[in-house]
Amino acid sequence: MTTFTPGLLNGKTAFVAGGSSGINLGIAQGLAAAGARIAIISRKIEKVEAAVAGLKAGGGEALGWAVDVRDYAAVEKSLADTHAAWGPIDIVVSGAAGNFLAPVLGMSANAFKTVIDIDLLGTFHVLRASHAFLRKPGASLISITAGQAINATLFQSHACAAKAGINMLTRVLAMEWGPDGIRVNAIAPGPIADTEGMARLTPTPESEAALKAIIPLRDYGTKQDIADLAIYLASDSAKYITGAILDCDGGSSLGRGLQPAQG
Ligand code: NAP
Ligand code: COA
Repeated sequence: MTTFTPGLLNGKTAFVAGGSSGINLGIAQGLAAAGARIAIISRKIEKVEAAVAGLKAGGGEALGWAVDVRDYAAVEKSLADTHAAWGPIDIVVSGAAGNFLAPVLGMSANAFKTVIDIDLLGTFHVLRASHAFLRKPGASLISITAGQAINATLFQSHACAAKAGINMLTRVLAMEWGPDGIRVNAIAPGPIADTEGMARLTPTPESEAALKAIIPLRDYGTKQDIADLAIYLASDSAKYITGAILDCDGGSSLGRGLQPAQG
């Protein structure tokens, strides 16, 4: 159940990179439910078409293109096409990502580079290319990061490094683009139920239960939890928030050092 005012984002245009599934599709659906027009990109045309059809079936306006965020020119064209269709872009979400569990000695240089290229370079591409097409002042940019940016996590060297880079890129852009009236923030989801990410990171019921046992709120979050935070960041209610990395994680990122046993 959402708590935002219906029509909060009426007339706004949102561009969601990686918006064809999972958390990012949940964000796209949430922004659409709040009134925004949605453009999405991801690599697989069948996923893009299904997501666009779903958004339209919900009564909203939607566009989508098959674009790999590693291709700067293609990212730029999709942003230009969004601008040509609907005018200045109000909201950009950069959430495309790839991940797998592997120790450093179990991944090639290309495996490490692949995740850096999708997550970090891809976010640079999306945000860098968006600038020319943004509403200035007023645009809200949202990177999707993760707790791995802060918490060193076994078998996640690539994702930890990429998401740490995204946090810093977000903060530097907030400084560079603040004078243009552009806000740049990041959402750090914790473990979110029914997502590809958690299917990869906790592939068995045992690993899922073990993770839930150390989350302060003792459960996974939902895509709606993340969508609601994105709606807030996209709205004028967050007009004085920039450069923030906001955890939405049930407290997952807290207390990762040595702790006394809990009774
Ligand atoms: P997901 O469904 O696999 O979402 C990833 C999206 O990115 C898909 O739409 C995928 O579509 C797209 N994508 C992947 N590589 C791409 C590329 N090179 N170019 C363009 N699009 C690409 O996974 P998810 O678990 O919901 O994760 C979504 C975001 O949340 C990610 O940024 C992830 O790091 C973050 N996150 C997730 C969790 C979690 O609990 N799941 C926790 C913390 C952070 P295509 O296959 O069509 O390209
Ligand atoms: N362990 C070790 N290395 C792996 C791996 C794994 N589980 N999965 C892939 N790799 C390596 C490949 O072997 C390859 O390295 P090589 O050329 O030295 O052999 C490199 O990673 C790139 O793999 P490739 O399949 O060519 O990349 P891709 O660009 O087609 O796909 C991935 C990117 C690997 C991240 C793929 O898992 C993906 O598309 N993920 C998107 C969905 C996702 O991860 N969602 C969760 C988001 S949190």
